[in-house]
Amino acid sequence: AGPDVLRADLAGRRVVVSAGGTREPLDPVRYLGNRSSGKQGWALARVAAARGAEVVLVAAGVDLPAPFGVRVVPVGTAEELRTAVLAESPDADVVVMAAAVADFRPASVAATKLKKKDDPREVPEVRLVRNPDVLAELVAKRPPGQLVVGFAAETGDDDGDVLAHARAKLARKGCDLLVVNDVSGGGVFGRPDNAAVVLAADGTATEVPHGSKDAVAAAVWQTVLARLP
Ligand code: CTP
Ligand code: CA
Repeated sequence: AGPDVLRADLAGRRVVVSAGGTREPLDPVRYLGNRSSGKQGWALARVAAARGAEVVLVAAGVDLPAPFGVRVVPVGTAEELRTAVLAESPDADVVVMAAAVADFRPASVAATKLKKKDDPREVPEVRLVRNPDVLAELVAKRPPGQLVVGFAAETGDDDGDVLAHARAKLARKGCDLLVVNDVSGGGVFGRPDNAAVVLAADGTATEVPHGSKDAVAAAVWQTVLARLP
């Protein structure tokens, strides 16, 4: 990932990174999930640790090996992720919410496996309820000086382009930085490379050129570092 990772410019900093995608159980064998591979979050944790930070990685539904020097806290559901992130974040300098957190979960979890009925027209109905918004809660509870970074995968549509949606989301979420991925073309999930725009609450936009996820991570930390007290 270039010479950036050899600089201990994050020494003495505590960072919490959430990564992966939450899984919301339907019954003992099934869940509602998403396509997040966790790779960008892993890269953020790995690069921060290599640059001297003390790193906690809250990992949702991903079983990749822990990056060197990183403490991994495995979680499943959005509720579990919320509990872990809120427990780790109070004394953190930076919290990065790279995880894809399910917006909804099944209203109830069946205690036993859902079975098919003889009549093929009889199908179960899944009712969903809203999950807590962890990023919004982090922003509301953050101690002075803490930087909160959100992620957003956006597509352009009739209501606006990717950046317009992202700016609205940044304002809505109230975080300091929003790392925006344009997923219009599809095919970004699980890939080893990435590109992004980092939007700041002060209106600046930093383009991160297409590169490895480590290179994107290094660029994100560079933007974060410039804003740390
Ligand atoms: N996020 C979160 N808790 C949720 C949903 C999202 O903490 N329940 C965080 C994600 O980790 C990410 C940021 O919020 O850092 C933006 O997620 P995104 O899904 O893009 O935002 P939403 O507000 O859920 O908007 P949308 O309706 O577009 O999904
Ligand atoms: Ca969402």
